[in-house]
Amino acid sequence: MNQPKEYAATNATQIRNILELIGQFSEEFRNMNGHIIDIGCGPGNTTRDILVPCVGRDAVIVGADISPSMIEYAEQHYAVADKLSFVQLDMQTSELPKQLIEQFDHVVSFYALHWCKNTKQALQNIHQLLRPGGKAIILTISHHMIYEMYPEQEKDPRFAPYMQNSDKWTPPHQGRADADEMMKKDLLAANFKVEYCVNKWETFTYPSLDTLVDLVMAVNPCVSQMPKDIQKECREDMKKRLGSKCVSSKGDSTVDCRFSVLTIVIQKPKQSAEIN
Ligand SMILES: C[S@@+](CC[C@H](N)C(=O)[O-])C[C@H]1O[C@@H](n2cnc3c(N)ncnc32)[C@H](O)[C@@H]1O
Repeated sequence: MNQPKEYAATNATQIRNILELIGQFSEEFRNMNGHIIDIGCGPGNTTRDILVPCVGRDAVIVGADISPSMIEYAEQHYAVADKLSFVQLDMQTSELPKQLIEQFDHVVSFYALHWCKNTKQALQNIHQLLRPGGKAIILTISHHMIYEMYPEQEKDPRFAPYMQNSDKWTPPHQGRADADEMMKKDLLAANFKVEYCVNKWETFTYPSLDTLVDLVMAVNPCVSQMPKDIQKECREDMKKRLGSKCVSSKGDSTVDCRFSVLTIVIQKPKQSAEIN
């Protein structure tokens, strides 16, 4: 995902769900003070416009993302002196920068953990980033209709050179009815106290098929590798495929998209012996 401006303009589904999450755990968010890291912050708009206003007034926040272009965009558009800065970080790295270890009272991560195939490593890193007693709130996709389309597209000779191995960026819980149980196991193995871990099915209604296709084009990491004419064909192809998968429940030009999200609230125990 490397088109920050387009992504920032099209992530309405995510914003709705992040706002719902903040409503559900409003006290947790209000009581977040000290140092917070927002992992997978993307272009920085949700960090500054949604996270900053709902956490404690004295909180100092770092937005982190694997993508240098997202971080550059976020720094240019959303940094706030002494309050909000941005850093490049791969949350599933096997070499977490030493200067970040145990530096954070809170970790938040919205719509980013599902990009990590190595969930265990990512959770281990979140554990390491937190101070003892620190908490994390994570919202991540477990299944999404758009990932059903990619294996079909990568068989098309027009897109195949740019779209191999789409399973590499398909959520690790895609198609798993036991997503919450799988995640709980990984959280416990990473030594977290699990306060909440629930998988929920949702529908988001997009105003039109074009709006949905714009979002998919912005989040698909292969699109930017394609020449412009192939990008155009890919967009048309997505429109056809998504048009047959996502239909309108209202019988108008809107389209319904089904997906499921995992909501996770965890704590790093104050002492290492303290477990669930
Ligand atoms: C869908 S965007 C979410 C952005 C923002 N959190 C929001 O909700 O609007 C997912 C972000 O996760 C980032 N990401 C993917 N894999 C990552 C990793 N291993 N470490 C850190 N960030 C990652 C992507 O670059 C992208 O910016």
